[in-house]
Amino acid sequence: MYYIGLLGLGTVATGTLEILSDPSGRNPLISEMIVKKIGVRSLEKTRTIQLSQELLTQDLDSIVIDPQIDIVVELLGGLEPARSLILKAINAGKHVVTANKAVIARYREEIYAAAQAKGVYVLIEGAVGGGIPIIKPLKQSLGSNRIQSIIGIVNGTTNYILSQMSDFGADFSEVLARAQQLGYAEADPSSDVDGLDAADKIAILASLSFGGHIKREDVYSEGISNITATDIDYARRLGYTIKLLAIARGNAGEDSDHLELRVHPTLVPQSHPLASIHGVNNAVLVEGDPLGRVMFYGPGAGSGPTASAVVSDIMNIVAILKSHGTGATLDPLLSRAHQHYCQITPIEEIKSSFYTRLITLDRPGAIGQIGTCFGEQNVSLQSLVQIGLKAGQAELVIVSHDVKEGLFRRALESVRQLEAIKDIPSVIRVLA
Ligand SMILES: NC(=O)c1ccc[n+]([C@@H]2O[C@H](COP(=O)([O-])OP(=O)(O)OC[C@H]3O[C@@H](n4cnc5c(N)ncnc54)[C@H](OP(=O)(O)O)[C@@H]3O)[C@@H](O)[C@H]2O)c1
Repeated sequence: MYYIGLLGLGTVATGTLEILSDPSGRNPLISEMIVKKIGVRSLEKTRTIQLSQELLTQDLDSIVIDPQIDIVVELLGGLEPARSLILKAINAGKHVVTANKAVIARYREEIYAAAQAKGVYVLIEGAVGGGIPIIKPLKQSLGSNRIQSIIGIVNGTTNYILSQMSDFGADFSEVLARAQQLGYAEADPSSDVDGLDAADKIAILASLSFGGHIKREDVYSEGISNITATDIDYARRLGYTIKLLAIARGNAGEDSDHLELRVHPTLVPQSHPLASIHGVNNAVLVEGDPLGRVMFYGPGAGSGPTASAVVSDIMNIVAILKSHGTGATLDPLLSRAHQHYCQITPIEEIKSSFYTRLITLDRPGAIGQIGTCFGEQNVSLQSLVQIGLKAGQAELVIVSHDVKEGLFRRALESVRQLEAIKDIPSVIRVLA
């Protein structure tokens, strides 16, 4: 039998216990797992799962050093005490399973170095994409490929909000309030809507795919709170849908150590596979050589889906312990460690096409002046459409060709100085 110490008894931990307590029809290894202790904050809280009160403890330290426990499953969330408990568990020789993207994105290097030193595994399948298997495929099934890009919709809350805005023509704040009522968005939604959660996840995926450490603060992130129903409508008319994308792209051939790494709202062509990802679902599109494109799609969060990933990680460890016994040499496919930091390309150097919405005074020559400002920075324009005209003001939508962001921003600054320009409400990058 293999003993598990569970840290936390919230959404994902409850789903994990539900799988472990109902092994019929699942992998037989599940019947060999025993949950010995569960660490919680409150002993009085009413739980949605029936279990012996004796399993619960508020002394989480005692779990991570318990000599009988083989695997510590960290499902607390947040940075502390999660990070310290993971490190303590490793130092006590425990294998660790966690779904904590915030901790892994920031402390992966420290945690993996400790795990290597102790010869234990730290598996993180639940940390990205909830129930979607993406970590193990990147480490193993796609391991023969040179990964070129990873583009993901990795935050269900923002995808739900953008989908609702698109379906019902509603504005951001209205949809956010509804998402909070339905439990799809947190009371404090900033980690989701500001793109921070997606940035944690792309940092993890990029590190696995491009073979280097990523400094979390190097991930550029922009959220969706400035996206309006108007932009969603104009984007649709131009053949696009707006998604919050997390993008990691290697610049193989130029400088293989340079990575583009960013999270931002993006106009996605309606024909692109990510354009059809609706609601709370997640999808990760991986492009590799020689494979080409492969897309992973499914429920990116939730109790059952995330627990599915967590339990499969526990199973992987149990399978190895069973075949090699404890103290087994680390399987390099499950425990890849890196030596160096990836160089991240500054956002100003990244080439994109841009969608820009401008409000101008309806004056002769205004469009020519705008064109000159862009031309002076070598920004060429794909299309310029006057969408509406009211009260002497015109609304223009411009889509540029690919251009370095720094040049585009400089051109936009000179456009902003033009007397005819009243406002530039939106600038959104466009996926090629
Ligand atoms: N929810 C999802 O859909 C999802 C998807 C993917 C990944 N994840 C990740 O999975 C992890 C768990 O998420 P969750 O949604 O299950 O969280 P949750 O529902 O908020 O549950 C957290 C649990 O941890 C316990 N806890 C938190 N801080 C503690 C502390 N200082 N001392 C003792 N116990 C503490 C809480 O105890 P009490 O019950 O006593 O308050 C609670 O049982 C997070 O890292 C999250 O990012 C979640």
